[in-house]
Amino acid sequence: MLANKTIVLGVTGGIAAYKAADLASKLTQAGAKVRVIMTKSALEFITPLTFEGITGNAVITDMFQTTAEHRINHVALSEVADAIVIAPATANIIAKIACGIADDMLTCTVLVTKAPIIVSPAMHANMYENSITQENIAKLKIRGFTIIEPEVGRLASGGYGVGRLPDTEVIIGTIQQVFGKNGDLKGKRIVVTAGGTREALDPVRYISNHSSGKMGYAVAEAARDRGAKVTLITTPTALAIPTGVETIKVQSAKQMRDTVVKATAKADALIMAAAVADYRPKTTAKQKIKKGAGDLTLELVKTPDIISEVKGKFLKIGFAAETQDLVANAKKKLTNKALDMIVANDVTSEGSGFGADTSKVTLINKGGKQEDLPLMTKREVADKILDRVGKLLGEKGK
Ligand code: C5P
Repeated sequence: MLANKTIVLGVTGGIAAYKAADLASKLTQAGAKVRVIMTKSALEFITPLTFEGITGNAVITDMFQTTAEHRINHVALSEVADAIVIAPATANIIAKIACGIADDMLTCTVLVTKAPIIVSPAMHANMYENSITQENIAKLKIRGFTIIEPEVGRLASGGYGVGRLPDTEVIIGTIQQVFGKNGDLKGKRIVVTAGGTREALDPVRYISNHSSGKMGYAVAEAARDRGAKVTLITTPTALAIPTGVETIKVQSAKQMRDTVVKATAKADALIMAAAVADYRPKTTAKQKIKKGAGDLTLELVKTPDIISEVKGKFLKIGFAAETQDLVANAKKKLTNKALDMIVANDVTSEGSGFGADTSKVTLINKGGKQEDLPLMTKREVADKILDRVGKLLGEKGK
């Protein structure tokens, strides 16, 4: 997704400029060509040498600078850029861009480029909340700039408020979303579930499973990066909430069912990667169950089978995590649950279990089309699934 993309990273003069080094590093590691432009005041916070070392490219700090790369002029970078990202963006740079001022290399590049521009404001809360800054940001939004909302937290002034540069993952997620806007799932509404449900025994205990949520999150992110409008319905996991994805947190199978029913009202596809408990305790004790002298027997009752129950014209894609007779069991589920496709995963095979970053799956369509995929990252599996979802939606004329 980011591989071979040229990203012009504009760094302006704020205390968060040091975080831009991490952003440059992660983008470079993801295969992007990162070209950094620093404003004069950014040089007060971090040196060009840092960015040159990280990106392997000369850093532009001056409009009239000549470098080994003599094609660097005020339009060169704007032409090669697939996206321009300004992080951190001060109130000053935002004001200049909003007014069309082009008195340094960064503002010039912004004014010339046809590439998408992402701006990540970071400043003192009062500056950010000032109506002048807000009006300038609104102007940029109207002109199609993507603005990343700053986070609330401790500010450089020692105070607390809105104005912090978000984590690198949030900025990268936004860049990927911008690149994916015209992808093959553009405008499609995809609902994804993730994680293992928690079925409460009492206020402090629950029954659950080993699902990490990684597969579902990978599907949600991959769908986002192909232009889909994604709703992720997730149980509590250790994973970061993906940027640009509507995320709804649930706990039990029943809560997940109710949320799925609502979320799929206008959906094109439901992808149930969640490991839904098949049984729940018949009763949930109001108070913590006390240890008694003897053993304790729990009575379990069936949970709703969400993917079978939920009705609609959308595609239904299920997962089958199996420990034996993988394909036969998966095919049974495909038929019994009236799915369009099932992703069969032998959780006993190496590198394919719960919590792993990789998975080895077999994709089986309703018509019987079966494809054994090699061990790949969950993100790669997600894209393979979505390749088929895109095709199926096309066949449905959706
Ligand atoms: O648990 P099982 O192997 O039957 O899960 C197969 C598929 O059905 C999965 O996609 C899972 O998310 C879904 N499922 C469900 N509701 C349940 C149990 C499973 O939607 N109660």
